[in-house]
Amino acid sequence: MNDAAAWSGLEEARRWVREATRIAVLTGAGVSAESGVPTFRDAQTGLWANFRPEELATPEAFRAHPQRVWDWYAERRARLADVQPNPGHVALAEFQARHPDRLTLITQNVDGLHQKAGSTGVLALHGNLFEDRWLDPCLNSALHGGRLGCDPTSAVAGSPPRCADCGNLLRPGVVWFGEMLPMDALDAAERAAVSCELMLVVGTSGAVYPAAGLAHRARRAGARVVVLNPEPTELDDVAHLCLRGTSARWLPALLGD
Ligand code: APR
Repeated sequence: MNDAAAWSGLEEARRWVREATRIAVLTGAGVSAESGVPTFRDAQTGLWANFRPEELATPEAFRAHPQRVWDWYAERRARLADVQPNPGHVALAEFQARHPDRLTLITQNVDGLHQKAGSTGVLALHGNLFEDRWLDPCLNSALHGGRLGCDPTSAVAGSPPRCADCGNLLRPGVVWFGEMLPMDALDAAERAAVSCELMLVVGTSGAVYPAAGLAHRARRAGARVVVLNPEPTELDDVAHLCLRGTSARWLPALLGD
């Protein structure tokens, strides 16, 4: 896309933003690229390069080698702790602040950068790297009808931390390969997809389902769909318009006043 075509595409997309009372945004790893977030594969460096993803990011791997998997996530957390949101994250958060209840943000990212930028109500389809939860349903919670479960924040430190009361292990609050997505977040994302007038698909290859399916749902329900990505994606065919460029450059241009 040459610059003139890109700018006329941008103008059209800005008009669609102005016209839409409900906007849904689906983001992926590309939104965090300009913050320097290592991709899942980039994180498999050094010692970790010897492991396949399924040896680090599945429930089976965690049960077989809890310390190895916990340590890998601990290293990812440490590498991400100081990473800052970039102008793309900020543009989304500022738009939400200026237009309450108009933009629903759905992300596949687990890095927490949308939340760090100030976005609200983020639907984190693949969980959050910085949250912990119990590996197994809490026995104490089951005994009390789902209430009064053991508190994850009181787990005894370790690799991984463990419940002093029932022995349950803590695990990172991300969705591993082969796991279900959090039902609440997925339901809310589907509602946003079918009720929006505009869906922005930003920084995702569109290869992973069910997240990518949200763009199809939005289009079928009559929304305009805009893909924003420096490279072709698997969702380009679903889009009315593809803006080729990075999210740190285009999101401020698209969502700014
Ligand atoms: N701005 C916008 N997009 C970018 C940028 C950038 N600066 N840099 C790269 N991209 C785009 C790439 O062109 C690519 O289309 O980001 C996309 C990243 O694609 P993937 O690595 O496949 O990431 P994503 O689509 O988020 O993957 C979905 O798959 O690995 C699993 O669970 C993981 O949540 C992840 C899911």
